[in-house]
Amino acid sequence: MGMAYDFDRVIDRKGTGSEKWVPFEESDVLPMPVADMDFASPPELVEALRERVEHGVFGYAQPTPSLVDTVIGMCRNRYGWEVDPEWVVWLPGLVCGINVTCRAVGGPGDAVMTAVPVYPPFLTAPRNMKRELVTVPLVLEGDRWTFDWEALEKACTSKVGLFLLCQPHNPVGRVFSREEIERLAAFCLERDIVLCSDEIHCDLILEDIPHRPTASLSPEIARNTITLMAPSKTFNVPGLGCAFAIIPNPKLRASFHQAKAGIVPQVGVFGYAGCEAAYALGEPWRRELISYLRGNRDYLLKFVRNELPGVESYPIEATYLAWFDVRALELKDPVTHFIDHGVALSDGRFFKGPGFVRMNFGCPRATLEEGLRRLRKAIVNRQ
Ligand SMILES: Cc1ncc(COP(=O)(O)O)c(C=O)c1O
Repeated sequence: MGMAYDFDRVIDRKGTGSEKWVPFEESDVLPMPVADMDFASPPELVEALRERVEHGVFGYAQPTPSLVDTVIGMCRNRYGWEVDPEWVVWLPGLVCGINVTCRAVGGPGDAVMTAVPVYPPFLTAPRNMKRELVTVPLVLEGDRWTFDWEALEKACTSKVGLFLLCQPHNPVGRVFSREEIERLAAFCLERDIVLCSDEIHCDLILEDIPHRPTASLSPEIARNTITLMAPSKTFNVPGLGCAFAIIPNPKLRASFHQAKAGIVPQVGVFGYAGCEAAYALGEPWRRELISYLRGNRDYLLKFVRNELPGVESYPIEATYLAWFDVRALELKDPVTHFIDHGVALSDGRFFKGPGFVRMNFGCPRATLEEGLRRLRKAIVNRQ
């Protein structure tokens, strides 16, 4: 089947104020850290934004009933999850939601737990809100990362009031199984720990595995869970600033509203318009994106296996991010060494994964091929 959308098109992002590209605009370095994609968003979404621009009035906004219906319908149709419109709290970003969650649960001196490596804001949000941070390393079972249940039990003190979960997981690429999530949810329920489930990557699953929202697993889990979702990763619209929390428990929801009051700005008109268009019109594009990303992933993993000795990779079930163990290369500063060879990756240190790097493969195949060739050269040229 041919592709209706062109993911091979290389779009020059220099000069557009791109967080990913700005640091390298004066150089020839390929930026592959920051998690946005180098693809244009679905044309249907771009058209919806154009229509909104043409209206010409950009006042304070609220989610329209049709946007709310679209999100509720998406949860029902894609995940079989019945969401009450009242449970939805709109946010200008998901990182904001992680910070608000840390502020909403417990008090200063309480602790927040998470499993590492993990997306860096999980590590900074607790401290931003004067909570202690308790981290427990994920462990390898064969070549798959999973929770270390014994270590979780051992590290858990009575101060822990919140667990931050990333499902699917950035950066290790796992879609945790129903059993793993149920066990984690039970761990939290037994200890009166609120579970925050960041599901921003849930529509980027590359294997034939369905996404099961954590809160949809049981009514008890739903009452104990703050779910965070957004169209931003899937449809490549993080710059539009629109995310949402789903909080069935009215007490938790009230604390969440209280924690954001007066600080968190409203979502803008383009955020809402982009969100509705993404979920209402973006599915054909998303399907082709998944197929393109699968191709990139397969190419990348084969290249790493065959051409990058000393780089360890893992199965990538979801996301457009690859997590590599580069300790065997014995480089003092792998990220700088790779930049010197023309490719910028994320440093695992910021994820509490020193000795690892993360590569973003959400880009045209030609860009990925060039990035990997540069990595190969960097490895050949190491001292
Ligand atoms: C797990 C996770 N949560 C949140 C975000 C960012 O969300 P936002 O841009 O809406 O703040 C990312 C982006 O990489 C992510 O990987």
